[in-house]
Amino acid sequence: MLIFLIGYMGSGKSTAGKKLASRMGFQCIDLDQYIELKTGKSISQIFEDDGENMFRELEKKYLQELAKQTHTIISTGGGTPCFFDNMQWMNSKGTTIYLQMSPTSLVHRLQNATSTRPILKNKTNHELLEFVTNALADREKYYLEAHIQAKGENLNITELLEKIKEHRL
Ligand code: S3P
Repeated sequence: MLIFLIGYMGSGKSTAGKKLASRMGFQCIDLDQYIELKTGKSISQIFEDDGENMFRELEKKYLQELAKQTHTIISTGGGTPCFFDNMQWMNSKGTTIYLQMSPTSLVHRLQNATSTRPILKNKTNHELLEFVTNALADREKYYLEAHIQAKGENLNITELLEKIKEHRL
């Protein structure tokens, strides 16, 4: 069984992934970390040296490689569902969960974490709110294709586990 966690940067995918994994006895793998391991480069470096298009190609390739695992929770990147047919593909391979969060909460959580995220680099807090609001408006149509939606703020893992069980029935 495979679970894909999706949502914008800062929505808590990695933390939720670890918690779910420990409750379910699954392994949890972060797609960005896997890409860094496989390429020997940081995500920022890939964007800088090779550009976003190449990053998206790598992201698709390693997503598909990772999905050969079983009993695994894959924490994807914020853009993963929005390129190629990745969202449809994830929906066909496992259970997808969208961690939904408001732009204000996202910005609050992202303020100190822009340096490792090339798309947000060099943005002031004011620019960040506008950018995240617009990006979410573009991306949410993909995110909302997920099988399960959960509020990312104060995420209740027990409730989420119930929803996963219901979806699998
Ligand atoms: C991106 C999100 C990042 C990472 C890359 C691009 C995006 O992942 O994949 O910097 O386009 O939203 P996180 O959501 O894990 O920060």
